[in-house]
Amino acid sequence: MKLFYDLWYRFGTPPWVGQARSELVELVQAGDLLPGRAIDLGCGEGDNAIFLAQHGFQVTAVDFSPAAIAKAKAKALEAGAEVDFRVDDLTRHANVNGDFDLLVDYGTFDDLSTKDRAAYVDQVAALTKPGAKFLLWCFEWELKTWERVATAILPFGNIALHPGEVGNWFASTFEITQVAGETGLPQWPRGWAAYLLTRT
Ligand SMILES: C[S@@+](CC[C@H](N)C(=O)[O-])C[C@H]1O[C@@H](n2cnc3c(N)ncnc32)[C@H](O)[C@@H]1O
Repeated sequence: MKLFYDLWYRFGTPPWVGQARSELVELVQAGDLLPGRAIDLGCGEGDNAIFLAQHGFQVTAVDFSPAAIAKAKAKALEAGAEVDFRVDDLTRHANVNGDFDLLVDYGTFDDLSTKDRAAYVDQVAALTKPGAKFLLWCFEWELKTWERVATAILPFGNIALHPGEVGNWFASTFEITQVAGETGLPQWPRGWAAYLLTRT
């Protein structure tokens, strides 16, 4: 997975790169997410992190791809945004700790294998204290049999959460509200969801 992403960032521009994501932008602009200490989990080229820094947050941003972090640092410099970018693996933090008021994950948790999701959940709890917010965006649909077989065979982790899975992973430590999503799309990927979690 790490090599796959790193090569993609090094030699290309993945399709999610470009600008801060709409749900995050809307929540910040509406005042539903207030400035504080934020961490972007799997930040890629840093579009969300840079947006948060430009809106008064003190931002740490983490990705296990050195190529992504190098590009993110260059973008932040050009934008005049101060972000503490770090290379680290979200399933076993060696380089990240502390209490954050806001966690953001766009499309990272849903990629992970089941074992890595469990490790990620443990790490995330340690980064928050009661009241902290966590914006989690994921692909989400009921996988067809061929999709289950493909994800079991191929060494790329997962492709989507199944409906209800966010609750299974996070309900013991967070209150969960779905803020956006689409389901049953005719094309692939067949659904997505954005959740705003509040640490209990
Ligand atoms: C689909 S991309 C989304 C990137 C970014 N959040 C965005 O929306 O632009 C998923 C990102 O998670 C990173 N990633 C995946 N697994 C990771 C892990 N275990 N630790 C750290 N980063 C990881 C990948 O390198 C990639 O940048």
